[in-house]
Amino acid sequence: MHVARNGASYAHAPEVSALLDRLPHARRHVRYTRPGSDEVEGRDFDRWGRLTTGEVAELELDLTAEALVCGPQAFMTDLRGGLVAAGLVGGSVRSETFGGATVPGRAPHGPAGRPAQGPLVTFSRSGLAVRWAAADGTLLELAEACDVPVSWSCRAGVCHRCESGLVAGEVVYDPEPLDAPVPGHLLLCCSQPRGPITLDL
Ligand code: FES
Repeated sequence: MHVARNGASYAHAPEVSALLDRLPHARRHVRYTRPGSDEVEGRDFDRWGRLTTGEVAELELDLTAEALVCGPQAFMTDLRGGLVAAGLVGGSVRSETFGGATVPGRAPHGPAGRPAQGPLVTFSRSGLAVRWAAADGTLLELAEACDVPVSWSCRAGVCHRCESGLVAGEVVYDPEPLDAPVPGHLLLCCSQPRGPITLDL
């Protein structure tokens, strides 16, 4: 089971497809939350929208299976509930988070050797303010370049591991996150400052 925004954001789709094709009894169920205009339900993906807890039972899963759930925390909690309600034994439902916090070996500092004229990014907890440059990439990459402690996993707007407080200002997302962060927060891994911003980092 895989949920993605659309085919363009379905990570490793060809590789996953090729591997599943080698398993004689494999089944797949793919959902798109925002399919492209040329993507057709039933042809390019199985169903529109996120998998809800109640829909898990309709998938007629093998109840002796082990499930591995990976995604945003709320998604993992919901899906675990759905799998157990469908009859899977709780102990056979596993979840995976990967990646981890960046633990800097030194105090936060400005990024080395690059003049920048872009918006001012203030890391309030770190007592650091630096100008953003397009070459910095995402705010996650800028934080890493400054040794500001951050967490991450997917780096693609899916897992919410990089979600942080946005004290002031606005960001633009590219790509758009699968699930928007809660108000007052942002996802560092897929955002850039729209103007001066202050982060709770
Ligand atoms: S690292 Fe996964 S959403 Fe940012």
